[in-house]
Amino acid sequence: MRVALMILLGLVIGIIGTVNVMNVLSERNPMPSAVMHTLGYHVGELKGAIKANQCDAANIQHHLARLESTASDITPVFGMDVKDFADHASQLQDHLHQAVAAAPTTCAALATVLKPVGESCKSCHDKYR
Ligand code: HEC
Repeated sequence: MRVALMILLGLVIGIIGTVNVMNVLSERNPMPSAVMHTLGYHVGELKGAIKANQCDAANIQHHLARLESTASDITPVFGMDVKDFADHASQLQDHLHQAVAAAPTTCAALATVLKPVGESCKSCHDKYR
């Protein structure tokens, strides 16, 4: 009985310790998640504009430019020293660079430039998320 209690106590302490460590780690570096949520926000705004059929050129350009600059934070912020990961991030940056340069002024044009962007998000998530 006593042994079982000690084992149980050990397990509980272990679980509490693990949860604490995980919390500390994620608090210490909120940036990867922050960068991803920022990307998600701007993609969401653009998709919303397409859905509502309200594709204001200046508004589109703002979100595309924010996506392009935020994407350049992925590699340094994730601190992942894996070439393939950095390649995925730079592929996204290339597509966003092209999207900004194309400066779409209609929903149809926006949808066209967003497609490869969304594919870049997906291909990295499929592998690393
Ligand atoms: C180079 C790789 C890579 C690219 C490109 C990428 N992501 Fe991510 N994303 C990740 C990883 C890894 C995670 C998991 C992060 C974690 O759990 O801390 C993630 C998580 C997320 C999350 C969930 C964040 C959270 O903490 O819950 C969102 C939202 C997201 N990504 C949006 C996007 C969008 C939108 C794009 C494209 C514009 C994108 N990502 C492109 C690697 C990438």
